[in-house]
Amino acid sequence: MKRPVFAALRLFVSMSAVVIVTGGAAAAVPGGPIDPGRDYHSFSNPHQLMVEHVDIAVQVMFEERMLDGVVDLKVRRIDPDARTLILDTRDLTVREVALVKPDGRDQELRFSFGETDPNLGTPLEITLPQSLDAFVTGKDEKNNPHGSLMVRVTYHTGENASGLQWLTPQQTAGKKHPFLFTQSQAIHARSWIPLQDTPSVRVTYRATIFPPEGLVAVMSAARDKGAGSTDDVEFEFEFEMTRPIPSYLIALAVGDLKFKALGSRTGVYAEPSVLDAAAREFADTESMLKTCEELFGPYYWDRYDLLILPPSFPFGGMENPRLSFITPTVIAGDKSLVSLIAHEMAHSWSGNMVTNATWRDLWLNEGFTVYLESRIMEALYGEERRAMEDVLGLRTLRDDLARLPPQDQVLAVDLRGRDPDDVFSSVPYEKGRLFLVYLESKIGREKFHNFLGNYFAHFAFKSITTEQFLAYLHEKLLEGKRPPVTEEAIKQWVYAPGLPEDAVLPKSDALIKVDEARKQWLQGHKQASELGTSAWSTHEWLHFLDNMPEKLTLVQLQSLDTAFMLTGTGNAEIAHSWLKIAIRNRYEPAMTRLEEYLMSIGRRKLIRPLYEELMKTDWGVEFARRVYNKARPGYHPIAVNTLDAIVLKGE
Ligand code: BES
Ligand code: ZN
Repeated sequence: MKRPVFAALRLFVSMSAVVIVTGGAAAAVPGGPIDPGRDYHSFSNPHQLMVEHVDIAVQVMFEERMLDGVVDLKVRRIDPDARTLILDTRDLTVREVALVKPDGRDQELRFSFGETDPNLGTPLEITLPQSLDAFVTGKDEKNNPHGSLMVRVTYHTGENASGLQWLTPQQTAGKKHPFLFTQSQAIHARSWIPLQDTPSVRVTYRATIFPPEGLVAVMSAARDKGAGSTDDVEFEFEFEMTRPIPSYLIALAVGDLKFKALGSRTGVYAEPSVLDAAAREFADTESMLKTCEELFGPYYWDRYDLLILPPSFPFGGMENPRLSFITPTVIAGDKSLVSLIAHEMAHSWSGNMVTNATWRDLWLNEGFTVYLESRIMEALYGEERRAMEDVLGLRTLRDDLARLPPQDQVLAVDLRGRDPDDVFSSVPYEKGRLFLVYLESKIGREKFHNFLGNYFAHFAFKSITTEQFLAYLHEKLLEGKRPPVTEEAIKQWVYAPGLPEDAVLPKSDALIKVDEARKQWLQGHKQASELGTSAWSTHEWLHFLDNMPEKLTLVQLQSLDTAFMLTGTGNAEIAHSWLKIAIRNRYEPAMTRLEEYLMSIGRRKLIRPLYEELMKTDWGVEFARRVYNKARPGYHPIAVNTLDAIVLKGE
């Protein structure tokens, strides 16, 4: 079948460098040509006044479920005539805004909130005085001709801040202390700090955090006392991030945390009862970091630590710089799910160093990262392991392509008027990886490898658009008489739905054997116990289960469960695949486990498909609603937002 190519999309995009312009997002109505580089998910005006440094000081108040404090924003004057600074906020209460003089004295400023947009929050409009001379610092003819200003906002967060999850002691492993963590990506930093919440703006930051006595604060930044100092009782934790990062990478967690070193540059933070298991599971982290440096170039963030969160964390992982946030559901006991660590670590290059300029360009972060993840897994654990993981990834892409409307199957996706969380799919991830694998196959691994290294060096600590990447690709690899890849092919990959016919797809011999085993069993040629599964890895199990027919008989379900103890598995991913089958076939013996699972895990990728399966049948709707109502208070706001639309619809 021939697929419609780029032209059909009537999308005009220039291949030249793009100037970042944001602001006026509320006025953006979907439709019309996209302006690449414009961030439709921020109200801010960095083309006039650009925040360059953020300094926050907040008190962590568990009883009130509130962060209360002050943020100082160092604002670079790009347009000397600009007198309105627009910040992004969501559910924030602002008590005071002031302009701070170099001598520390300040002058109160007028401010007002604009109209609230359900996806974007509320713009905070701050009016600057006509005469700014007394406030300007750092003027420098060449680098900062109009100088910078210091704006101070005194504020506190709202009860339902979308970027914060406040956990009761009951929701933690230790059950004694409360826990707080942030999740800023994509547009939730604005719910806990008023700032220019766009990945096109990069800031350095400092922070002073005041947690309750006895609890430890960690951030995506260097601690003044050095990593791992969790033993003394402290009242004040100071952090500094000296590399410019986008706002979605500012991150904080507070809880009963202990630290264990994994290597000289790596370590893990977790609640005490989880620490040893986590350290064992992620023992390869230091060698992974070395592998990354060999493959992708220098690591610019000094340390790489992991923070193991309570199970309500809505994602598998989050690449907060220097400190990836990780779900405990990947602690399987056999290192079988550590590709997640490879993924978050790879973001140190693709994402944290070279960053998507807008959320339309997310595939530059995620597609590159999934490609790098494959390279790391191949280098550390061999080609077969990589192949299995790539095949499982392709499966999720196929499922998503079957479900998504054509316009959401493209890499550079139009998110105007929508919440990026609602459009989340495997397309930027897996289609992104396949695009890079395709380029690699046409150009040759060595040449492509060098291209990648140069790409990271060229755009280091910059935020770039899809079109800037394409222009660079063109210049470095596709110019000349006989380019290895045609312009049409590139455009199809980036702007057209579906998968190009000549995509290079992964194949795994091990998984082909699993297909064979499944067939033997389904046709009754072999008993479950005769399938030779004793050495199967998690990947083989997932492939075995995920490709079962829709319907199995009760006898078949029982024979699988008896032979492999699937209902009781301690592996959260295998349990997920099994529970989907159990729901489809209303396999009663698994229902208690299903309920426990939904009550204890908040990782969206694992629970959302289970609720979706349940919602397909009458008995399931009832089950889903009953369990969801109990579980909902323990889920993260991001998961609640997704699940409300699935479970409560039509109620
Ligand atoms: N940065 C993402 C998580 C994310 C993406 C949060 C977009 C909000 C908006 C993170 O690196 C990620 O991709 N996590 C995956 C795991 C990965 C192995 C595919 C996840 O959480 O499932
Ligand atoms: Zn990622």
